[in-house]
Parts: sequence; C-alpha cells; structure tokens
Amino acid sequence: MFGFNETLLKEKTVLITGASKGIGRACALMAAKCGAKVIAVARTQSDLELLQQEAPEQIEVWVEDVSAVSFTDKVKALPQLHGLINNVGTNRVASMLEQADEDLDAVIDLNLKSLYRTAKAALTPMLNAGGGSIVNMSSQMAYVGSPGRTLYCMSKHGVEGLSKAMGVELAPQGIRVNSVAPTFVLTPLTEPMFQDEAFKSFVFDRIPMKKLATTDDVANACLFLLSDLSAMVTGTCIKVDGGWTAQ
Ligand SMILES: NC(=O)c1ccc[n+]([C@@H]2O[C@H](COP(=O)([O-])OP(=O)(O)OC[C@H]3O[C@@H](n4cnc5c(N)ncnc54)[C@H](OP(=O)(O)O)[C@@H]3O)[C@@H](O)[C@H]2O)c1
Repeated sequence: MFGFNETLLKEKTVLITGASKGIGRACALMAAKCGAKVIAVARTQSDLELLQQEAPEQIEVWVEDVSAVSFTDKVKALPQLHGLINNVGTNRVASMLEQADEDLDAVIDLNLKSLYRTAKAALTPMLNAGGGSIVNMSSQMAYVGSPGRTLYCMSKHGVEGLSKAMGVELAPQGIRVNSVAPTFVLTPLTEPMFQDEAFKSFVFDRIPMKKLATTDDVANACLFLLSDLSAMVTGTCIKVDGGWTAQ
C-alpha cells in the first residue's frame, strides 16, 4: 500500500543496502515513489538492473559487497547523503551445538559490523548535508529469543544497542538513528523456512494478527523514519511484528 505523498523525500538522496530483493527492494521502490534519489546496493548486478528498470531516473545502482572497504570509501566520498537504510542481514539457523565459528563470524560480520561501518561512512556526507536519518534493519528477534536463532537474536539485539547509542551520540549533529523490527516477511531469506509446516504453525501461533508482514508494511515504517514526518524521533524502534513481542 502506498500512502505517502510523492514529495515526501524530494531532493533527498537515500542509500539502501540489500536493495535488490525482499525488504530492501520494497524500500527502494517506495523511496523512489516518494521523490528520493535512491542509491541501491547489492552484489548481484542482474537483480539491481531489474530494480533500476522500475524507476531509471531515480535509482542508481551500486554493485558492491557492503563488507568491502571500497564500498565504505565510496559512501564516505558522496557529496551529500540524507538517508540510509542499513538493511543487509543474514541468518544461519541451527542449534548452538551445530553452529561453527564461521557461522558466528558470518552473522556478526554482516548483521552488526557492516551496519556500524556503513553508518560510520555515511556520517561524512550526512554532515555535509546538514543532518540525516539512519534506519537500521532489526527484527522482532531483537526483543525475544527463539530456538535455532541464537546468532541471529544476538546480532539483532546488538542492532538495537547500536541504534540507541548512535541516536544519542549524533542527535546534536542533526542525525537521527532508529530501527525497524519486523516479524517474519516472505522474502528469499525466509521462503525456504516456510516450506516446513511445523515452522509455519510455530510462527502463526505466535503472531496475534495471524498473518505475516509484507515488504511494504516494513517499507512504510522505514520511509516514515527517513522522512521529516519523524523529525523528533530518534534512538527508538518501530516494531512491525503483528504483536509477537507484546506477549
Ligand atoms: N524476511 C524476514 O522475515 C525478516 C524479518 C525480520 C528482519 N529481517 C531483516 O530484514 C533485512 C532484509 O531481509 P530480507 O528477508 O529482505 O533479505 P533477502 O531477501 O535475503 O535480501 C537480502 C538483500 O541483501 C543483499 N545482500 C546480501 N549480502 C550482501 C552483501 N554482503 N553486500 C551487499 N548486499 C548484500 C542481497 O543481494 P545480493 O545477494 O545480490 O548481494 C539482497 O538484495 C535483514 O536485515 C533481515 O535480517 C527480515
């Protein structure tokens, strides 16, 4: 559902990581509809080209791995940046006994360290712009535990700490920092999980609204936080979880 005005992000440049699929793609399309110039980042060129075709005049694509120094250098060198959706994230679902050290590093490196490094690089062009808004993609798993998701929960709890601390530190410079915490959304990340009927029941039993979030539900919260509609909102989280964590 598109409920924002087409000028909501007019004259703003917004960088979105993990923008070629799932939640990031929905955010990129909605930001373009709201008048932003969007820089969409992912590793797969063909997916980014498909995205760009939807709004070629507004969407610029960067084929980059967010973990690379070349990426953060490029972000830092931007003349101006008004918004960042730090959306990349991954999961390695398994019990603690089955997790290898490589899984621990992969989840913490992408879900936490890359968000910190991207946000740090974004500060220079945001200060050039006189301020900005950063949205870190969190999860309902930042508020609860869940079986097989120790690494993911740990990383997303960290995302909440990062957002609060950055929100406090950067407020005097006019940079707001918040997070969005969705429940399960059907995307390439979660589609394989929902092949399992027992897992599907586990999820639906825990969502009081008895439905999954859509990518647009999540994008709506992100766009609100990017925009001046949330001018007094920083260091907090919008949960888009149908009530999962309210119980
Ligand atoms: N889906 C859910 O149910 C759900 C629920 C709560 C929170 N979340 C969070 O929402 C975020 C997005 O999830 P999603 O389900 O939309 O994911 P997704 O469908 O798997 O999409 C991930 C996106 O990130 C890109 N990406 C992955 N690694 C990258 C890297 N190293 N550098 C640059 N781009 C990279 C992918 O493209 P390439 O592979 O081509 O790079 C793709 O565009 C994550 O932080 C996730 O934890 C998701």
